[in-house]
Amino acid sequence: MNVTDGRVIFAACLGLLQVFNMNESIANPARPDPATERRIEALLEKMTLAEKVGQMAQVNVGDSYIHDYLADGIRAGRVGSVLNVVDVDVVNELQRIAVEESRLGIPLLVGRDVIHGFKTVMPIPLGQAATWNPDMVREGARVAALEAARTGINWTFAPMIDISRDARWGRIAESLGEDPYLASLLGVAMVEGFQGEDMSAAGTIAACAKHFAGYGAAESGRDYATTNIPENELRNVYLRPFRAAVEAGVATLMTSFSDLDGVPATANDFLLRQVLRDEWGFDGFVVSDWDSVRQLQIHGLTANDRESAMQAVSAGVDMEMHGDAYINHLEALVDSGEIDAELIDDAVRGILKIKFELGLFERPYTDPAMLPPFASEHALATAKRAALQSVVMLTNEHHVLPLDPGGLDSIAVIGPLANAPYEQLGTWIFDGDPALSVTPLKAIGEMLGDAVEVHYARAMATSRTRGTEGFDEAVRVASAADAVILFLGEESILSGEAHSRADISLPGAQAELVRRIRATGKPIVAVIQAGRPLTLTNIVEEVDAILYAWHPGTMGGPAIAELLFGIASPSGKLPATFPKMVGQIPIYYNQKNTGKPPTPDTIAHIDDIDPHAPQLSLGMTAFHLDAGYTPLFPFGHGLSYASFEYDNLRLRAGGMKIGESLKVSVDVMNTGRVAAHEIVQLYVRDLAGSVTRPVRELKGFRRIHLEPEERVTVEFELHSDDLAFHGRDMVLRAEPGEFHLWVGGSSDTDLMTTFRILAGD
Ligand code: NOJ
Repeated sequence: MNVTDGRVIFAACLGLLQVFNMNESIANPARPDPATERRIEALLEKMTLAEKVGQMAQVNVGDSYIHDYLADGIRAGRVGSVLNVVDVDVVNELQRIAVEESRLGIPLLVGRDVIHGFKTVMPIPLGQAATWNPDMVREGARVAALEAARTGINWTFAPMIDISRDARWGRIAESLGEDPYLASLLGVAMVEGFQGEDMSAAGTIAACAKHFAGYGAAESGRDYATTNIPENELRNVYLRPFRAAVEAGVATLMTSFSDLDGVPATANDFLLRQVLRDEWGFDGFVVSDWDSVRQLQIHGLTANDRESAMQAVSAGVDMEMHGDAYINHLEALVDSGEIDAELIDDAVRGILKIKFELGLFERPYTDPAMLPPFASEHALATAKRAALQSVVMLTNEHHVLPLDPGGLDSIAVIGPLANAPYEQLGTWIFDGDPALSVTPLKAIGEMLGDAVEVHYARAMATSRTRGTEGFDEAVRVASAADAVILFLGEESILSGEAHSRADISLPGAQAELVRRIRATGKPIVAVIQAGRPLTLTNIVEEVDAILYAWHPGTMGGPAIAELLFGIASPSGKLPATFPKMVGQIPIYYNQKNTGKPPTPDTIAHIDDIDPHAPQLSLGMTAFHLDAGYTPLFPFGHGLSYASFEYDNLRLRAGGMKIGESLKVSVDVMNTGRVAAHEIVQLYVRDLAGSVTRPVRELKGFRRIHLEPEERVTVEFELHSDDLAFHGRDMVLRAEPGEFHLWVGGSSDTDLMTTFRILAGD
């Protein structure tokens, strides 16, 4: 098929335009319908102050048994929500106490961290982001919601949409990467997957966009550390995915543990009142993070729990997660006039709204038989598809991949993560079932059957093992095989909450293992499972190909096997930049130009400094003497078994006025020998603005499928609103001027054109 067939792909889908139609305040942020509003007001009218404060308390159940304290609390109307209970009988009993034995019969919100699957585990969110596929991400969340809902869970603490530009931070695994645009689209898709079109339908649950805000900017990537984010950067980068989620109707938000500009997020009225409520019109509710109300004192903001409760509720935290500052102090604070009773009413309105919208007053109980079983065929197929699409091929020297079983008598499968059912699930899998995991070793064995011998050596007990006792056997196994597949990376415990690392290279003796196997002279394919971008500089030249599989979840094994042997082609693209060295962090593609941008001609390497004229050999631009200025692998990078040629980049007009759109099209041809998916990416640069603008910004992408020699025209529609940013006055608007525009298969594409935005009439 070629261009003349007129097949045109429209990338600027409706959802994309909706998300970024950024007027100053959001027009219709899911207000309760008038009937619900009446029900809320009628109920509020009947509530005592103690019952209202009760709705604002969330209690940890933990061990899934109903202790008297909890049952009595629910009966007395002193508990609005519980978390961490996953036994449906216990949940139904708690709901029964709430509905039948409390005075007003208000059902409970039942919360749980359902982050990337429930029993069936999808790839970690960072891996899902590598699919660049909102439909995939939406379906993954839908499957997770269906499974979680079987246990009576009606609220998940996801999506996590903190922009993460620091791979040291363990929670980058839970994030959707470094880019505000990609994270916005995928975050919205997750919200849609959890909440569906109607939250009261069976199998849907309320979502929670977290952590509001700036948590990903923790200093030196150390979890919980302070953040320093200027307001302009905050609005243009960190807040954008939250705004998109609010616009898409996310039910709840969670505050961040971190502080911002000296005010912890849990007491930050700028974030929670001015931005979230006043500017964006959010009318769901905000939950604190775990005990983060009481932590205001530990931060050094307040002297005691009473003050913490006062500051948090005044800022706009409606529910306290696992803490007792609200339940112990809010009534007294109202009675003494220190806080206005209207603040409490507003908080309770938001909480009741979500309970009504979930249909809990009509259907408080859960009948698991009405929902699909755990690990259904559909759930496993979704997990496999997500894993397939999430794997990024970083390198493929001499086309060593895909492996051809016909040309091999035996292969060696080596490494601590080849057969590690728990580790492949990644972080935050409270309910994930490792017994369901199909490991790469198992899947490769099943796929090859008797055709190719598979020999396995674990080599290291864990990814962190420093000893090399297992290496001799691994070398023996490698030496006897025609090709080696090395399963390297990080165990799941090395990423996630509070699991940050200062050195993000392969842990333990893995680099040494690579060197030992390299010495056998066999072709080596490295499959890396990890919760973050790792610095791979010391092994990248030592192996012939790298498949980066993140923590791929339950069905990681079959997905990896299909990619290794060419049943499918890799199509994932990096959602985060891979540094060469940890000292380059933060490194991200949409950085600022600076006044001294580096180029290949203006940089010097530490090894090349002329000892006789050191000053002359030094460039005077923004680079590192030992690392240059480029990453190891850029954002958007990802190879395929096909190859794609981009040309004929054209615009329907040379510019647009404010308020108008511009059509962009490009031809993409599969010049390879296999059919494959490609992710076509569109970037722009605003050359001059009232504040400096990034050197490139992602503004559109499209996942396409091409047969060999097939050529398609991919069309994007760019609205001037898509180019809006918060300028020097913090107002969100597009500014007239000249732009560069690139389209290609990675953020470093050089196929470029230019256009202008003209001032409106
Ligand atoms: C703390 C984490 O920061 C948050 O993301 C999570 O949802 C809560 N704990 C509940 O487990």
